[in-house]
Amino acid sequence: MDLFDKLKELRQKGLEEIKKASDEKKLNDVRVELVGKKGELTKILHSMREVAPEDRRKVGQKVNELRDLFNNQLDESKKKLVAVLIAKKMEEERVDVTLPGRKQAVGSKHPIYVILDDLEKYFIGMGYKVVQGPEIETDHYCFEMMNLPKDHPARDMQATFYIDGEDLLRTQTSGDQARVLEKHDFSKGPLKMVGPGKVYRRDDDDATHSHQFMQMEGLVVDKNVTMSDLKGTLELIAKHVFGQDRETRLRPSYFPFTEPSVEMDVSCFNCDGKGCPICKYTGWIEVLGAGMVHPNVLENAGIDSKTYGGFAFGLGLDRFAILKYGIDDIRDFYTNDVRFLRQFRKEED
Ligand code: DAH
Repeated sequence: MDLFDKLKELRQKGLEEIKKASDEKKLNDVRVELVGKKGELTKILHSMREVAPEDRRKVGQKVNELRDLFNNQLDESKKKLVAVLIAKKMEEERVDVTLPGRKQAVGSKHPIYVILDDLEKYFIGMGYKVVQGPEIETDHYCFEMMNLPKDHPARDMQATFYIDGEDLLRTQTSGDQARVLEKHDFSKGPLKMVGPGKVYRRDDDDATHSHQFMQMEGLVVDKNVTMSDLKGTLELIAKHVFGQDRETRLRPSYFPFTEPSVEMDVSCFNCDGKGCPICKYTGWIEVLGAGMVHPNVLENAGIDSKTYGGFAFGLGLDRFAILKYGIDDIRDFYTNDVRFLRQFRKEED
């Protein structure tokens, strides 16, 4: 068979194969076979020796024509295959723009943080700074510095989780007091701080007890701070959180880091003091502990207790939220049921 016939045959065969190739990979195989470096056309060029010299130009021309034809057809075919592929993908991933949209689930602030954030703002407005102590606290700051030496009986009220002999999960935010007292520079003005955060106790969980809860510590130290400053401040907090017409009363109490120590009650917001199950028919609800800073706490931090004095308070944020929102199980705060959390959406600011 002469080369012209071979070329004719190749042309027919090649065009058929290009047509048959049903995907990009097969088409590429055909490309290699026809116009590749070791493909059919190259083979024909290599056999040019057998062609009579006067025909060589013509064969060369024919080979080039055929290469152009193949290349064009290959490109065309590829375009078609890609178009089909895209059309298929579009069909598969089609979006029905007339369908109603999916609602984004938006979270809401946790009720304890609704109260915490609100109280922080309130205290910042009165010139307090907000500090955050470590949850893994040392015995030194949690107890020793707060006038609770190792053999102190009041330690029994706050059994905790010890990590080793010295480090523990703090039982109270009161250690924040010692930390800021040590650092405060009184030449720059009085010390006023609140310290909110998580605390831990070795307790069996039930509706009113949790091994983890939230407190907010408060401390004011300056020259000439009196008990009426404490009383006025506590009254402001009570009214801010529980309502302007609440009444407050202080009862004597005991805390190792304050002397004298008090507990504050607010008049029951449910029955207005008449007596109901929430206030256990006393008309009053206990909301926090407080007192005048014990001189030992100041001296432990290197502060002259004859010149400086102050007041401190500690409140349970869980307890505030329980009272304010009428929550009957403290565990609801920590079990993360969205149906519980959703109820507080409207409380956000
Ligand atoms: N730390 C106390 C507790 O956890 C609460 C407390 C009471 C804090 C009186 C104070 C305070 O700063 O003055 O029971």
